Amino acid sequence: MRVVVTPPGRTVLLTGAAGGLGRVLAARFTDGGDRVVAVDRDAAALADLASQVDVVPVVADVSSRDDVERAVAEAGRVDVMVNNAAVVDRLGAAHEVDPDEWDLLVAVNLTAPYLFCHAVLPAMIKRGAGTIVNVASITGLRGGRAGAAYTASKHGLVGLTINIAATTGHLGIRSNAVCPGSIDTGMQALGEVFDSGRETLARDRRKPPPVAPGLIADVVTFLASDAAAGINGVALPADSGTLAF
Ligand SMILES: NC(=O)c1ccc[n+]([C@@H]2O[C@H](COP(=O)([O-])OP(=O)(O)OC[C@H]3O[C@@H](n4cnc5c(N)ncnc54)[C@H](O)[C@@H]3O)[C@@H](O)[C@H]2O)c1
Repeated sequence: MRVVVTPPGRTVLLTGAAGGLGRVLAARFTDGGDRVVAVDRDAAALADLASQVDVVPVVADVSSRDDVERAVAEAGRVDVMVNNAAVVDRLGAAHEVDPDEWDLLVAVNLTAPYLFCHAVLPAMIKRGAGTIVNVASITGLRGGRAGAAYTASKHGLVGLTINIAATTGHLGIRSNAVCPGSIDTGMQALGEVFDSGRETLARDRRKPPPVAPGLIADVVTFLASDAAAGINGVALPADSGTLAF
């Protein structure tokens, strides 16, 4: 049997760690003294991250139940769960998106965070402490900012986040979502985008420019910290005021 030795301090289980926001988050948490278990399916990008930041790299596909189990086992005790991995659809409306693309978006963006929460919550509840931070999107709060699959998956993630807060808050768990607007990470759609989606986004002329990932990392690390002890069950826009219009 594998024995996981957890050092003093928190263990943060972070998915999508090798991506644009994930890399910044991994560095922030490790700089703060946390042990970061960094999960990503991109082995090369994860190795590159691990060469620069002191993380425990786990190559895993979060849409695979076996891989999720393996990542959670590797982490051992999890104090902070950050569900950050996601894929973007091709901006197709419901009548355009094909079922395979829908299934992938839901698997990665919604079912995977559920699987991780399902796996880590029992031990958190037993200890009476634990924090979940889900990286959603303003797309999880509005209808016209992406395709049907991405929009539905992020709405689902916001719902999951708030339900966890409602059902486990009294047991010492905090569960919050960050809803970024546009982040300057170069996140790519799965393929050539639909004209309908491009036109929908073009209608939003007041959209602020993408923000640096560090600004979103500030919000995620704040929600994961004791400074946010009084915050539970929120889906916090970090969108430079996009939704204010
Ligand atoms: N970039 C934006 O403008 C923007 C806006 C709003 C919300 N977000 C959200 O921020 C988060 C981070 O996005 P980003 O901009 O860093 O994107 P990114 O594409 O740079 O990073 C995403 C990471 O997730 C990983 N990943 C994808 N599918 C996976 C899978 N099945 N298993 C394991 N890892 C997988 C990718 O390999 C990648 O490293 C996402 O949840 C995204 O939806 C991004």
